[in-house]
Amino acid sequence: MSNKTSVISQDLLQEQLRFCGQINDYWKSRGVTPTAYVETYGCQQNEADSERIRGILSESGYAIVRQAENADVVVMNTCAIREHAEQRVFGNLGALTHTKRRHPGQKIFLCGCMAGQEQVVQRIKNSYPHVDGVFSTHHLWQFAEILYRVLTGKKRQFYTADEPGSIAEGLPQVRDNKLKAWVSIMYGCNNFCTYCIVPYVRGRERSRKWEDILEECRQVLSDGAKEITLLGQNVNSYGKDLDQGVDFADLLLKIAELPGDFLIRFMTSHPRDASQKLFDAMASSPKIAKQLHLPFQSGSSRVLKAMNRHYDREKYLEAVNYAKAVMPELVLTSDVIVGFPGETEEEFEQTLSLIEQVRYDSLFTFIFSPRPGTPAATMEDPTPKEEKNRRFDKLCALQNQISEEIHSSYIGKTFRCLIDGTDKDALTARTEGGRLVRLSGDPALIGTFQPVTITGSTTWSLTGNLAEKD
Ligand code: SAH
Ligand code: SF4
Ligand code: F3S
Repeated sequence: MSNKTSVISQDLLQEQLRFCGQINDYWKSRGVTPTAYVETYGCQQNEADSERIRGILSESGYAIVRQAENADVVVMNTCAIREHAEQRVFGNLGALTHTKRRHPGQKIFLCGCMAGQEQVVQRIKNSYPHVDGVFSTHHLWQFAEILYRVLTGKKRQFYTADEPGSIAEGLPQVRDNKLKAWVSIMYGCNNFCTYCIVPYVRGRERSRKWEDILEECRQVLSDGAKEITLLGQNVNSYGKDLDQGVDFADLLLKIAELPGDFLIRFMTSHPRDASQKLFDAMASSPKIAKQLHLPFQSGSSRVLKAMNRHYDREKYLEAVNYAKAVMPELVLTSDVIVGFPGETEEEFEQTLSLIEQVRYDSLFTFIFSPRPGTPAATMEDPTPKEEKNRRFDKLCALQNQISEEIHSSYIGKTFRCLIDGTDKDALTARTEGGRLVRLSGDPALIGTFQPVTITGSTTWSLTGNLAEKD
């Protein structure tokens, strides 16, 4: 297979760093330390992108602040996955007119997945004149240049040309959490599920070289990370676009060989290429968390076909059964869509029966939201909204009951947990399966793995006590 992934050259990246230097000079000559606020919507992929945006801002001399009020730069890193997500952004973007009126020098940018849609870009051009710059995910690596042009010129900047996508290595990064690091292993998606906007706004699937990923993992571990979450829309197809002979399972094992006490998580896996090799790799290493987010979307094979998911109910259950057989302690979570166009009552019941069969620890539940430009947006959809809401409530009630049952079965058991922060007076921790536990203890324990005995549970979380180490 040929190497189709295009990588931004180091010369071009150096040019961007020179823009950072020029922005620094711009502020120094005014004797000001500028401030910037980045607001992130959507998934972990966007969280990881925001860390690069903050990196570029910080390299340009900006201090990162926690609110838009009085900030010299505001960046809205947006999500387009459902209509509701977009409405929230437009609402908050509208509110920034007031913030900017109070601080007229403020520069406002919109980026992320919404910026990859032509109709959104047009709407910003026409109706949101206070937005100074828009750039899609493909142009994130050029943010320093965009910011410099906005600061020094009068014109608004739009970097939104559609592209298959590229990879930019070595962008500066300011990580939000030293203990838990996001590491993107690939970008984009080739799956074109019929309801989903992601392939249109994030371009084709492209994998980073395994050496670059390993180097980043080494770096975050030496900076104190105890948990690494590998990110991609479909991590199981990692490496298919490269000739490096390393697939996702191989990559996991390479990272697990790095020295130190840490856990590896990943998301998201697509059931289509969830291989036995992957589950065997997970089972073989104590550093790979026994946690799997495996979205099923629907329990009906007919609906799955209409969604273009490339697996059916049986194949999904086969994968889950194998994974549970080799990892009895596996914690499973998933995504499900209710009310896909044409979903019948019987097909919905099949979704419920799959949930009962698999018994997920928790589920992310969504009502179908038509996304302009995707095939499902124009499919016939006779089911009324009220009926979809009824199905949604029924599904959530079932899942809540299952989550509660699974959580209460944890009581009395002891799990190795990473103590990761505080919530009011309590410490917070995560089990290897990713479940949240609250406990009392010394904040000096933050950043360490500790045995925790579970003493109580709710639908959403657990409470516990520190146990004696053996
Ligand atoms: N790449 C991941 C999912 C990313 S989007 C995967 O394939 O598993 C996260 C979830 O949002 C999806 O799993 C799906 O359940 C939901 N979703 C995506 N598009 C949607 C839409 N148009 N309406 C409702 N839910 C949607
Ligand atoms: Fe969207 Fe499907 Fe790609 Fe996931 S795999 S990002 S649901 S198109
Ligand atoms: Fe949203 Fe883009 Fe993630 S659409 S869910 S932020 S990939």
